[in-house]
Amino acid sequence: MKKIIICLLLICALARPFLMAQDFQEKYRPQFHFTPKANWMNDPNGMVYLNGTYHLFYQYYPNDKIWGPMHWGHATSSDMISWKEQPIALYPDSLGYIFSGSAVVDKNNTAGFGKDALIAIFTHHDPVLEQQKTGKHESQSIAYSLDEGKSWTKYKGNPVIKNPGISDFRDPKVRWFEPQKKWVMTLATKDRITFYSSADLKSWMRESDFGVNEGGHGGVWECPDLFPIKHEGKEIWVLIVNINPGGPNKGSAGQYFLGNFDGKTFTSNSKETKWLDYGTDNYAAVTFANTGDRTILMGWMSNWQYANQVPTDPWRSANTIARQLGLKTVGKELYLTSVPVQELDVLNTTGFSLKKVKVKGQLDLTDKTKNNTGLFRLDLTMESRTDFSIVLSNQQGNEVIVGYDKAANQFYIDRSKSGNLGFEKGFAAKHVAPRFSQASNIPLTLIADAASIELFADNGLTVMTDIFFPENPMSKLSVKSVSGITVDSLKYAVLKSAVK
Ligand code: FRU
Repeated sequence: MKKIIICLLLICALARPFLMAQDFQEKYRPQFHFTPKANWMNDPNGMVYLNGTYHLFYQYYPNDKIWGPMHWGHATSSDMISWKEQPIALYPDSLGYIFSGSAVVDKNNTAGFGKDALIAIFTHHDPVLEQQKTGKHESQSIAYSLDEGKSWTKYKGNPVIKNPGISDFRDPKVRWFEPQKKWVMTLATKDRITFYSSADLKSWMRESDFGVNEGGHGGVWECPDLFPIKHEGKEIWVLIVNINPGGPNKGSAGQYFLGNFDGKTFTSNSKETKWLDYGTDNYAAVTFANTGDRTILMGWMSNWQYANQVPTDPWRSANTIARQLGLKTVGKELYLTSVPVQELDVLNTTGFSLKKVKVKGQLDLTDKTKNNTGLFRLDLTMESRTDFSIVLSNQQGNEVIVGYDKAANQFYIDRSKSGNLGFEKGFAAKHVAPRFSQASNIPLTLIADAASIELFADNGLTVMTDIFFPENPMSKLSVKSVSGITVDSLKYAVLKSAVK
């Protein structure tokens, strides 16, 4: 008997590396984008950095892989790349489901729960009141944790902001406003943003509204964010407003406004509607709290158009890669830029570089990449004088084309032949995005995981994120240009899995 047990233990120990790699065997499982092990996820919530750990909470339904009564799931990471799923943080209660919101570190103990308490500010969504069509089913509540997010206590005085009769009244994003030593809440209120302020996170005062006549209004305003970024010695305030539907390539997307915030009112300098990401798969994107001078954004890598139908099992949805935000002036306009956080470099393994290569027709790089997983990072600089494309494909003929259309001055991602497409009629599509930069060279970064591609063009001035579901990994890669082009420089790295 003893011998048998020892043998079994030995077999288990030897098989461990293979067991650890099991996630590679789950079709479409992202290898370095956060996914819950099982069941439904949507918006990232309460993202906050505390004592060396990044916390990600998220809209989660633990009983099925379709949207349902919302909880806050929880995951932690030391680098925003490799995440560890934790027990559920917040469960629905008598006031309703736990909808989206934010978290702050209460360094000055303003709420009286304890110094450095982690405080979550979220929407309570009451499904019973919703049925009764009172229009008052959403209110704002708080909860606190004194053990770095492991256990949570809901505040007895919830809700802290009652509904004034606005049917879409949700997704509070709270930050500390140092000049006036107060908390500011940015709340989505149907077709506008309402700002509130508070000294203690419990008692809130309405300050102002923004946006009823500004920006895109093709859908409901949701999941906002407000933060400053330093630019050429000046502080510019960024207001992010997610909208569903009404995105530039249909469905859910995030727009942003640049301007000023004085603690009471936000004023926008933006003349045109600007989008954080022109792909269809970056929604509800907001920033981490408490990251000092770095502003880091992460979104839900799906779209309400098809999120409930995507062919993954036993989970649904992933998050985008974390992105560092900046600002850049082009001509007279100022734009937000986003690039993958440098922490992503930990996944680089083998690769190769090329310099000044002429491409006429097709340059097949498949043999050089030696990559059968389809996970890679590609940094290349192309001439901007003519059309070109970068094609990810596989033996089955599935392909995703990332390209630049010179005549339209647009980037695009075409996933119309990307594999499994039948789950929603609009999924097979080509998405386009404007080019803003006027430089003669186009720097591009592509980040490919098992079921997604993220394009950062012109150092993050134009960004596109698209998901796709190939029959087999996209193990082939080529660069194409019909009329001929020079690739100034190209750097390819195979990325390893970050799944633990
Ligand atoms: C955005 C959203 C939020 C809401 C949550 C519910 O995707 O609709 O407005 O709080 O999802 O899960």
